[in-house]
Formats: sequence, structure tokens, C-alpha cells
Amino acid sequence: MYMSRITSNHIQSPLNYTGGKYKLLPQILPLFPQDINSFVDVFCGGGNVGVNINCQQVIFNDIDKNVVGLLKLFKNVPINKLICDIMNIINEYGLSLVFEHGYEYYNCSSSAGLGNYNKQSFFKLREYFNALKRKDKKYYTYLYVLIIYAFNNQIRFNSKGEYNLPVGKRDFNGDMQTKLKKFVARLQEKECSFISRDFRYFSSQRLTPQDFLYADPPYLITCATYNEQGGWTDDLERTLHLYLDDLHAHHIRFALSNVLTSKGKVNNILQDWLNNNPQYVCHHLNYDYSNSSYQTHDRVNGSDEVLITNY
Ligand SMILES: C[S@@+](CC[C@H](N)C(=O)[O-])C[C@H]1O[C@@H](n2cnc3c(N)ncnc32)[C@H](O)[C@@H]1O
Repeated sequence: MYMSRITSNHIQSPLNYTGGKYKLLPQILPLFPQDINSFVDVFCGGGNVGVNINCQQVIFNDIDKNVVGLLKLFKNVPINKLICDIMNIINEYGLSLVFEHGYEYYNCSSSAGLGNYNKQSFFKLREYFNALKRKDKKYYTYLYVLIIYAFNNQIRFNSKGEYNLPVGKRDFNGDMQTKLKKFVARLQEKECSFISRDFRYFSSQRLTPQDFLYADPPYLITCATYNEQGGWTDDLERTLHLYLDDLHAHHIRFALSNVLTSKGKVNNILQDWLNNNPQYVCHHLNYDYSNSSYQTHDRVNGSDEVLITNY
């Protein structure tokens, strides 16, 4: 039996992931079971949740191969080597490093950011990256550097498979380096494996009642890059509910993150599923991530952020 312990200093993903659950960890982790053998983070995204669970092993899964490739890079490359590889790319392309030289050196200010200075180098780097053929460590290291210097540190590829975000305002600053170092250290001390599969093909047969599956899918009624072009649909939402019902039938514990309402929209599919399954528990969380006070949900204007559990 392995104890899931909640630590006060949660680790944050170095991928600034839309829908990342870092800020909600203090609310959701206490609702997880204390005894977890395998923890399945089946929509792992930036890995904010899986990395903070103490258990025998964490299985990180996401349909996005690039995200899983980045997590594998963080797991497998020693941190000094990774930082060195990142710095080499930054130097090779002449990108800024404000933590070493300050803003004036680049003729930029903190408020306006570094976009003007980095623009041309960023485009050259992006062009080089988009021409890479093999998805190996080099590919993911270059991708991570692009993310560092990209608009809002986001990941977005167009339909031709090209990374297509513009340059951002920031660079590899102290904050980002600390986040990366802490995340890599925690991931490297963990027993974990990585899978990139649609959740529908993630076999639950190997799971036992000692295991735990956490599902943090794209939210049906909100927008995110990974939900563009019909990435998440009513059908997938219903299929996920059937998948979770099946886990319940096999006595496997799960927790599902979602929003029941957001900006006047209601997720009726989720509400109906809850109405039809009184055995599931719906925990209402603080809807406003940036607000540290635990407000009650606001069904009209705010988001009713929930964690649904079968235990
Ligand atoms: C809300 S995000 C997860 C955020 C993550 N929990 C974190 O804290 O960083 C949802 C993720 O689901 C993934 N996803 C979308 N459709 C999927 C599918 N059919 N199967 C598995 N993963 C999927 C997206 O790529 C995205 O990374």
C-alpha cells in the first residue's frame, strides 16, 4: 500500500499549459484517495497533476504526441545537459537572456517585452524546427526553446504540422529555469511511464481497485488550443462518461475535472450524467483560479468548476 501525501510546495509544469491544474491542486489533491498504486493521468497535458502524486507509479497519457515527447525529454535528459542544450540553442540563434544581461542591453523594457529583439531569431529558429524530420531529443529540445520564446509560451501546430505561434514577450528567465529544474528533478525521481493515445484506446483492463484514474479532458463549454477544430465533441464527452462508468463497474476509483457552467453556458451532458448517477459525488471548487478565497460557484457569470468522484 502506498500513501498519497499532499505536499505544500506543489511542483508546476514548465509548460504553461492552458487548462493546467496547478492552481487547483490545493483543492483537488485533498479529494484524491490516500492509497494509490498506479495513478493514471489520462489527459495529462503539462503533467501538473501526475507530477505531484506520491504513489508507486504514474502513467502519463495524452493524445498530443508533442506534449508527451516533451515530458519524456524532461524525464530522460539530466538537468545539466538539458539546460546546456537549451543555452546552446539560445546562443546559436542570438536570442535574449535577460537574467544575464538585463533589459537595457537589448534596448527593451519589461513592460514592452522582448518581442522586437527576438522576432527575427525566433522565426529562423521556427523555420529550422519545422524542417526537422526526426522526432528525437533534438526535436523536442528545439520545440521547448520555441515554446519559451513563443507567444504566451503556448504550443500550437497548424494543419500542416508546423509550429505556428508568433514570438512572445519573455525569455528563459529565472522563474522559468526554476520551474524547469524543479519539475525535471521531481519527474526523474518518480517511477513513471508515458503513453500517447486517445483515451478511448487506453485500456483500463490492466487497472485494479488499488489504482486511480484522473481525467482532465478538454472542457466541452470552454475554449483551448487543443480544443480547436472540433477537438472535443458531445460524442467524446458521452464516451468518456461511459468509460468512467465502466471503471466504476470494475471498482476502479476515478476523479473527473470539469466545469458544469461557464459564462452562462451549461454542460447539460455532464449534468444529465450526474443526475443519472447519484452514486457519484460532485465537489464544487472555487471557480476563479486567481482568487484565493473559496467562493461559492456563480452559475450565471462565473464557472462552476467541479471534481466528480466515484468514491
Ligand atoms: C485540460 S488539458 C489537461 C491539463 C493537465 N491536467 C495539466 O494540469 O496540465 C486536456 C488535455 O487533453 C488532451 N486530449 C484531448 N483529447 C484527448 C483524447 N481524446 N484522449 C487523450 N487526451 C486528449 C489534450 O491534448 C490536453 O492536453
